[in-house]
Amino acid sequence: MTGQATLPPRAQAVVDAFVARYGAPPEYLVRAPGRVNLIGEHTDYNGGFVFPAAIDREMIIAATPKADRLDREVRVWSLEYEAEDRFSLDQLVRSEEHPWVDYMRGMLSIWQACAFKVRAFDAVIAGNVPQGAGLSSSAAYEVAVGTLVNEMMATGVAPKQLALLAQKAENRFIGVQCGIMDQFISALGRADAALLIDCRSLAARPVPLRLAERGVALVITHSGVRRGLVDSAYNERRAQCEEAVRLLAARLKRDDVKALRDVSLDDFLAHERHLPPLVARRARHVISENERVLEGVECLGRGDLAGFGRLMIASHASLRDDFEVSCEGLDVLVELTQAFAGTIGARMTGAGFGGCTVALLPADRVDAYQAEVLSAYHARTGLTATAWVCQATAGASVLDSPMKRAGLG
Ligand code: GLA
Repeated sequence: MTGQATLPPRAQAVVDAFVARYGAPPEYLVRAPGRVNLIGEHTDYNGGFVFPAAIDREMIIAATPKADRLDREVRVWSLEYEAEDRFSLDQLVRSEEHPWVDYMRGMLSIWQACAFKVRAFDAVIAGNVPQGAGLSSSAAYEVAVGTLVNEMMATGVAPKQLALLAQKAENRFIGVQCGIMDQFISALGRADAALLIDCRSLAARPVPLRLAERGVALVITHSGVRRGLVDSAYNERRAQCEEAVRLLAARLKRDDVKALRDVSLDDFLAHERHLPPLVARRARHVISENERVLEGVECLGRGDLAGFGRLMIASHASLRDDFEVSCEGLDVLVELTQAFAGTIGARMTGAGFGGCTVALLPADRVDAYQAEVLSAYHARTGLTATAWVCQATAGASVLDSPMKRAGLG
């Protein structure tokens, strides 16, 4: 490995493990980050707006293609699981024994289904995006695999396309009907910025966060509640949103209403009482959340952090009361964070039903937050939360490859 003089320590550890296992340095080294969503939850699959940032927790893959081009067996070693799996590129199915490799198999399966070629390889993988925490460890994994094979095979797939393929892997191979947000931000994130993404057109705009300059810390707190029941509840929410679209399109007599994105808050309020109450609540969340995203981005643009924080709090209330995807742990955590002196804003992040909150705090209050809020949380719930300051990072990248070493990447 000659392309990089010094690698970040985690990447170096993956390279070292590769050498120890396969006897030579890897030819390819790629990374793809997890994400935190600042605002815009459950809006992506409604054709709406989201505002996530890629974070400094990521999946790293070191790999070398098999010397024999006819060899179709992939070998992969996980640093976390300290386990190996081997599978054939011609038989990509989910595995009960090694489900941790399913995201790789899923991505390779979708890749080949597009008639893109893949060569077998030996790989070492290591991820530090917490799993089941709402920080998109699976999107990071899929996008990392896509980034690897794209570089290895010189396929030239653009990042947006790669994100769509990764989403397809999640939808078709893993069976989770997620929207595009997680894979998109993992592929296209920007350092020190969040992306305003229009999930219908896939247009995106980086909005600088300037956290250091503003003396603000982006704090992720794991509630200690591992996400449960998320897949079935998630798919159920999607169906309820589709039902709301059908009913609203009929009431508004508008056949151009294809998603909740197409309904304004005023139109919704005028017809809300004609919808079944549950469906109305789901729609109210999505329609108001889309407005909060756009308003929040405007707030940041004019330096109104307090305004952005108020929208985060409103977003949480809407997810809790109307969309009903929060849980007691997340609610208590947000309530305590909101009451903590200096807090700018806080809300649950990701699909919900456990996982993490995201908060904006004055940087010099983070230690006090850790001491006071986390202990108050433990006292109230008996749960142990963990919090850390995260940085907004760039999306997926190739850290090293023959092309890079030749100055071509
Ligand atoms: C999960 C999905 C995303 C999005 C969020 C909720 O993270 O993967 O597509 O729907 O939930 O905002």
